[in-house]
Amino acid sequence: MACIRILCFFVISNIHHVQVVTGKLGVTAVKQSHSPEFGIDYIGCRDWTNPTGMNCNPYQGDTDCNAKLPMLCVRVDQSPRPPYLIYGEGAAMPAANYAGWNGGHVSTTLPTEASRFRNRAEANRFCAETLGEHWEIAGIWGSQPHWISGMNGTKYAGSEWTANKDRLLNGGWSFYTYGNVRNDTRFWIQGPADQSSTCWGH
Ligand SMILES: *[C@@H]1O[C@H](CO)[C@@H](O)[C@H](O)[C@H]1NC(C)=O
Ligand SMILES: *[C@@H]1O[C@H](CO)[C@@H](O)[C@H](O)[C@H]1NC(C)=O
Repeated sequence: MACIRILCFFVISNIHHVQVVTGKLGVTAVKQSHSPEFGIDYIGCRDWTNPTGMNCNPYQGDTDCNAKLPMLCVRVDQSPRPPYLIYGEGAAMPAANYAGWNGGHVSTTLPTEASRFRNRAEANRFCAETLGEHWEIAGIWGSQPHWISGMNGTKYAGSEWTANKDRLLNGGWSFYTYGNVRNDTRFWIQGPADQSSTCWGH
């Protein structure tokens, strides 16, 4: 009887522990558009074409880590930037910062809870197990998307992109990539390294 009561105590305390963890929020991204001309997707914090679209929150996170969402995965193979055009005035940064190139491809997994991963390596491994070798979790803030000041259309595209690798700057908030992922859901991504918005830590 005592054993059963101890068992009950542990079960309850475990449930309590899980509920505390449930409060953690993680950052997500969404697809905004696809360009059939280049076979590229535009992916970022918010779909600006959707008036009821949600902003991501790269600082505190925006979605319960126990929610099931597809993981957004990338395979960076140093593909040169295709000559897509960049529009708009930009915001805090020039427009090109919000139109960086990830140097490869994007795909997604089946929906899963981000809380199941303890660290970035486990998230990367899930991408690789689902999609193949060299697939890893996508990030927006940090090293994956890049831009070059003054890039637009053919300027700093193709061989001109590859020849100017020393001018690459880290992009933020949204990026272009080869791919054509679903647009009916947000995706789990890696948040900025200096924020607490990644479900699995850093
Ligand atoms: C990029 O080039 C297009 C076409 O020339 C132009 O309309 C657009 O304003 C340019 N974008 C930027 C950010 O200068
Ligand atoms: C998803 O993409 C299709 C076309 O590919 C488009 O018709 C539809 O409006 C998009 N949905 C959202 C939520 O953006």
